[in-house]
Amino acid sequence: MASHAPAMKSIGILTSGGDCSGLNAVIRAVVSHAIEHHGWRVIGIRQGTMGLMRRPVEFEELGLRVVTGNILRLAEVIEGYRQLGLDALIGIGGDGSFAILRRLAIQGGINLVGIPKTIDNDVGATENSVGFQSAVAVATEALDRLQPTAASHDRVMILEVMGRDAGHIALTAGIAGGADVILIPEIAYTIENVAAHIAKVRQRGRNFALVVVAEAVKDTLGQTVHQRHGGGGASYGGIGHRLGEALARLTGAETRVTVLGHVQRGGEPNAIDRLIGSVFGIHAVDLVAAGRFDRMVAWRNREVVDVPLADAIATPQCVDPQGALVRTARGLDISFGDA
Ligand code: F6P
Repeated sequence: MASHAPAMKSIGILTSGGDCSGLNAVIRAVVSHAIEHHGWRVIGIRQGTMGLMRRPVEFEELGLRVVTGNILRLAEVIEGYRQLGLDALIGIGGDGSFAILRRLAIQGGINLVGIPKTIDNDVGATENSVGFQSAVAVATEALDRLQPTAASHDRVMILEVMGRDAGHIALTAGIAGGADVILIPEIAYTIENVAAHIAKVRQRGRNFALVVVAEAVKDTLGQTVHQRHGGGGASYGGIGHRLGEALARLTGAETRVTVLGHVQRGGEPNAIDRLIGSVFGIHAVDLVAAGRFDRMVAWRNREVVDVPLADAIATPQCVDPQGALVRTARGLDISFGDA
């Protein structure tokens, strides 16, 4: 699977896992570069890998017009790839999707190139995934909007954000949005420490406080909090309300909780996601042209590079508790609830 360029004619492209802002920028770059530069066909596969399992296979040929403008039975997916006569597949996904796609690629001889996308920014071996920066912008704006109402009613405002097991959204938006407390899965907190920090903020004469909490932090009993969904399934969620009740009890302050939820995944991508998506799309097509498969495009040190897909899957990228952003937050007297 590794490294010889076939006489390329058709490549497939699919997204897998949770949606996020910026996917259209990726698809635009892939379609435009593959068609304009190489004269290839680009086949958009509907419904991710499900589309390859359906018969007839669910796809749409993507032309330049389109770009101005989605467990597995392995054998069927592989057969779907063959039925479409594809020479390569560009998979846009997170680490979970890449693990599945890579298994398919190895088993079925699929020439796979990965493009990382997830608001959680937890894909290994890349500093940035498409969708993360837009989610941070949404969470930061939420803090900006919460601040005046917090101040006018003397309240402690708690904002619960997504991110799965990584605290990147909470940490980044928390610094940018002027939070007083940031709680992330990577740093254990106690509710007493959080309450003490809020008391300190109030003693200094401020009548409100902003708390950002990542959905996967553990509650005071050391458990993560989950919510059940109508129609089945469960995911992280609910820690904000537990915190709100506990903080009201311990500080005597009036608390209100905002759960940001899926608004972090939709809407217009910000400029950085459009840029990263474009850069990733072009580089992915270049990898296909060079016959370099089983690789993922990545952003490192102000450059686009590519790395073995196995490296991207191996180690999820969590917040470094000693890293620059945590140090910056501590320098701003933001509490992580750990002291
Ligand atoms: O991985 C992206 C993500 O939005 C997480 O941040 C969140 O925990 C999860 O997906 C939510 O999943 P669902 O869309 O199934 O509720």
